[in-house]
Amino acid sequence: MNGMMKCVIKAAPGPGNLELVERAIPQVGPNDVLVKVHSLAVCGTDVHIMHWNEFASTRMTPPTIIGHEFSGEVVECGALVKQIKIGDAVSAETHIVCNTCDVCHNGNAHVCPHTSVIGLSRDGALAEYISIPASNAVVFEKFASWEELSLMEPYVAAVHAATQFSVAGKTVAVIGCGPIGAMGVGIAKKCGASNVIAIEPVAERGKMALLMGADSLIDPIKEDVAKAVPAANGGNKIDVVLDFSGNVGAIASSLSYIKPEGKIAVLGLSDKKLSFQLDEFVYRGITLKGIAGRRMYQDWETGKGLLAGGLDLSHIITHKLPMSEFQEGLRLMEHGECCKCVLIP
Ligand SMILES: NC(=O)c1ccc[n+]([C@@H]2O[C@H](COP(=O)([O-])OP(=O)(O)OC[C@H]3O[C@@H](n4cnc5c(N)ncnc54)[C@H](O)[C@@H]3O)[C@@H](O)[C@H]2O)c1
Ligand SMILES: [Zn+2]
Ligand SMILES: [Zn+2]
Repeated sequence: MNGMMKCVIKAAPGPGNLELVERAIPQVGPNDVLVKVHSLAVCGTDVHIMHWNEFASTRMTPPTIIGHEFSGEVVECGALVKQIKIGDAVSAETHIVCNTCDVCHNGNAHVCPHTSVIGLSRDGALAEYISIPASNAVVFEKFASWEELSLMEPYVAAVHAATQFSVAGKTVAVIGCGPIGAMGVGIAKKCGASNVIAIEPVAERGKMALLMGADSLIDPIKEDVAKAVPAANGGNKIDVVLDFSGNVGAIASSLSYIKPEGKIAVLGLSDKKLSFQLDEFVYRGITLKGIAGRRMYQDWETGKGLLAGGLDLSHIITHKLPMSEFQEGLRLMEHGECCKCVLIP
């Protein structure tokens, strides 16, 4: 498609330098689809790009269009694209993997070392249009709204974490109830967890966890989690810990309230070192699992199934702004004043 489009770019390295500009609509390669973006959810990563911290500065080479959590409608298909058609409603897996290395060939494309990332190492979706490989577009036949469809990428990461271990009939602690943790709460409940204990210091976020179905809420600043978690579980330790906080102290302290043979899945990120007493971990047979991105594409299918089964994510979107107000969207995210803010191009 020829023509110009509006988009938000990181124009140059350094803090700030985000600009709403006009650019040519991207060209579509033979295996790509062009998506008209209907909604873009602001992510913590976009705030990192704004601040230009080490995470962003080592991965992005400006000028680059930002934004990666999006939904839209397919308006053009490359010559070799067969399974996706014009008019399809899509969200997207944002990791573009090589599909040729041994990691990919072993079915572990979500940790492919040759991954490029939409809105980080290549142009993103805070734009009227984005061109992506057709293999990264995920078609949704049924969905509630474009806004909700733009949550799919972080939601499916939460699916990856919350379905890593069986939670049916189990007791689960969810550490950190930002947008991804709050969705993790809803997923764990939908998957049949008998008791979901949310641990979150920010009151508004705790309320969101309760809205998503948490059975109880613990403020880790005011309460001692080693006592409060068993107290919220009839005096017993719990089976599964899901971390969405990246707080290494909180993860280490989960050893105090998890049962022997307990399972810990960590999706939260941090550049700090995690430390705990090794024999406590080994003798009690604890499992610690890192959760990177989304398993391609089984977590997407599971995520669709949970939504079809009635999981409601509508509470997660607390703010909706036009793309021109992207600075306000980033500010809301930076200060934790929203759960998810979506921008409409
Ligand atoms: N592994 C991956 O592939 C992947 C993908 C996306 C995001 N992430 C990471 O996942 C995490 C969750 O994402 P998000 O967008 O919801 O982030 P977020 O920063 O909005 O949420 C983190 C939450 O943890 C809470 N928290 C902080 N310290 C805590 C403690 N001691 N105990 C309990 N809660 C505490 C914060 O108050 C906040 O609400 C982030 O660390 C993010 O970087 C990882
Ligand atoms: Zn994101
Ligand atoms: Zn690979």
